[in-house]
Amino acid sequence: MAEVSPKEQVLQILLEKKETFVSGQELCERLGVSRTSVWKYINALRTEDHYEIEAVTNKGYRLLPGKDQDILNRQEIENALHTRWAGRPLIYSEKTGSTNDDIMELSDQGYGQGTLCVTDCQTKGKGRRGRTWISPTGCNVYMSILLKPKMLPEHAPTVTLVMALAMEQAFAELDAPENVRFGIKWPNDVVVTLDNEHYKKCVGILTEMRLEDREIKDVTIGIGININQESFPEEISESATSLKLTLGRTVNRADLVARVWKYFEDDYEAFEKTEDLSLLQEKYEKALVNTGRKVRVLDPKGEYTGVARGITARGELIVLPDGSEQEVHVANGEISVRGVMGYV
Ligand code: BTN
Repeated sequence: MAEVSPKEQVLQILLEKKETFVSGQELCERLGVSRTSVWKYINALRTEDHYEIEAVTNKGYRLLPGKDQDILNRQEIENALHTRWAGRPLIYSEKTGSTNDDIMELSDQGYGQGTLCVTDCQTKGKGRRGRTWISPTGCNVYMSILLKPKMLPEHAPTVTLVMALAMEQAFAELDAPENVRFGIKWPNDVVVTLDNEHYKKCVGILTEMRLEDREIKDVTIGIGININQESFPEEISESATSLKLTLGRTVNRADLVARVWKYFEDDYEAFEKTEDLSLLQEKYEKALVNTGRKVRVLDPKGEYTGVARGITARGELIVLPDGSEQEVHVANGEISVRGVMGYV
């Protein structure tokens, strides 16, 4: 793992002190460097990382809370993260190919459950169904976590629904105008609406499971969150948005990352206990935007429409087909479900 540079150490100390001053003397002693070096690191934090740092004679240095500040780096995330195991260790990079690939490589090297890779930019971001996940720099978050579930391989894919639920809860905590509502489009699209009718997607989740002798070797969940992206290519602007475009303000990425993993950690432990969603079903159903709406089930045996009614403990969508009195349980991955009216 990358060593903590002296500049990062200075930042860590300034973050620890919140907005109070830390003397130049203390920084020199804790880092074991000269005053000139401390000054150099402070300047680098200002110019390279865009921190506002106040310097006052006889008092020292302190971080100024920048309005709409959004700086993503390892220290900012560590500082905000209050988890027991999710995000431990945390590996941050400014740029990588794909964080899902990084996690699998780390797993091969012996890293354990909870290892988290976060990056600001991906050059080979992977989406579902072999698609590319365009991952521009300086605005979003791309991250993947390593899990080593001790459960039957057929139970593990439901973890994707747990991930969507964690994100929906983290987003629901954001300060938002009254008309903004986040939700989940079954099984795992986190969506947002301003009018309870038109929904857009602001997150992508890609879960990859590897088996060894028919047992789970590891599960990698990768998520891409559109946070402060200000525009989208025309071909997806009808269905994709960002938190900034939704809320009308910049969202602090490090805080959001920390919130997501706090919710995920608790919910994953609940999922692990029963190997299904029994303990999370109620919460998931509150977030589910399909309930009561028309859906088209793209069953290879024959397409049909019906009304979604909720989910089962196994995470299947309960659908009442039109003209029938018998509910059908639609399994994640086996059959696609499309909204009949627009995206949901
Ligand atoms: C989708 O197609 O909706 C899923 C997109 C998943 C993108 C994330 S970004 C972090 C992680 N690394 C990847 O290469 N993909 C996932």
